[in-house]
Amino acid sequence: MKLLITGGAGFIGSAVIRHIIAHTAGSVVNVDKLTYAGNLESLAEISDNDRYVFEQVDICDRAELERVFREHRPDAVMHLAAESHVDRSIDGPAAFIETNIVGTYTLLEVARAYWNGLDAEHRDAFRFHHISTDEVYGDLEGPEGLFTEETSYAPSSPYSASKASSDHLVRAWQRTYGLPTLITNCSNNYGPYHFPEKLIPLVILNALEGKSLPIYGKGEQVRDWLYVEDHARALYQVVTKGEVGETYNIGGHNEKQNIEVVHTICAILDELAPSPHSPYANLITHVADRPGHDLRYAIDASKIERELGWRPEETFESGIRKTVQWYLANLEWCRRVQDGSYQRERLGTA
Ligand SMILES: NC(=O)c1ccc[n+]([C@@H]2O[C@H](COP(=O)([O-])OP(=O)(O)OC[C@H]3O[C@@H](n4cnc5c(N)ncnc54)[C@H](O)[C@@H]3O)[C@@H](O)[C@H]2O)c1
Repeated sequence: MKLLITGGAGFIGSAVIRHIIAHTAGSVVNVDKLTYAGNLESLAEISDNDRYVFEQVDICDRAELERVFREHRPDAVMHLAAESHVDRSIDGPAAFIETNIVGTYTLLEVARAYWNGLDAEHRDAFRFHHISTDEVYGDLEGPEGLFTEETSYAPSSPYSASKASSDHLVRAWQRTYGLPTLITNCSNNYGPYHFPEKLIPLVILNALEGKSLPIYGKGEQVRDWLYVEDHARALYQVVTKGEVGETYNIGGHNEKQNIEVVHTICAILDELAPSPHSPYANLITHVADRPGHDLRYAIDASKIERELGWRPEETFESGIRKTVQWYLANLEWCRRVQDGSYQRERLGTA
């Protein structure tokens, strides 16, 4: 199976590609524009594999996408390319509208034209898998209740509104044109190669440097954390075994308040990397809350478990320990992201 994966140089996309190359016989065409969030160094361990090809292409560029489909003739698309950071969407929503909505529309149109031109056997087998977020559902009030595949959309931020829009486009292309689509909505991911602006890597790296650990408000926001390699396995299961037209929610059954997450990381660092800055929890600083901040997300993942037999392998305790260990062992990857050399060198300016 040849998979065209958009956003494959990002956090989750790179985990999906590493998973496919290491654990399946499939091949991958990675289509990525390489924004600040794209880092080919996250694919170093598989980049020489002859089942892997990279195409630096913007998903808003229709002509280039048409060329990629024509040249590589994929059996399925896994669409992960997106602007993904909520704070950035508040400061500058334009790129979110462009990539998440216009880019998804452009990709759907190019995929539809390509799919229409396939012979009957390949048309039947073709899949367009759109990877989305639980943030499209808005937030849950109180400690009870879970997002199911039937929960109404109520996005809060420019990021989640743009992802909700792209989900609607994908469903419409299935209903109207018959394009064989699948959608997954997943909770917060964490794990290796996570860009250091996100909560978990930010806390690890700031703590090691003795910098403050900023927590929005009281840190009472609840997120349902999923280890990124569990997500990668789920996505492969959906694209290969999922039922056309269906949506699957993916979550880790690991609801934690942000403040709990930060205390857990500090405790692991106190044990694995004691320094003059420890106990690291002393570095926690509360900062003004994010506007429109959702209080609680939690996923009912029973459908994917029941129908496709997927379950997370990591608990939060095992996954967060692995993650801290990975960051401690890969400080050079982090340094190259933080000082920008991962971008300068690929642009040939170093
Ligand atoms: N990170 C999470 O916790 C999470 C949870 C649920 C769903 N998701 C969704 O999963 C997908 C991947 O998330 P992530 O955390 O890996 O994101 P990321 O920001 O780490 O990576 C996004 C990738 O997309 C690429 N990209 C951005 N704009 C592009 C464009 N116009 N054309 C081609 N490539 C472009 C970037 O270069 C980058 O490699 C996103 O669609 C996101 O909405 C993320």
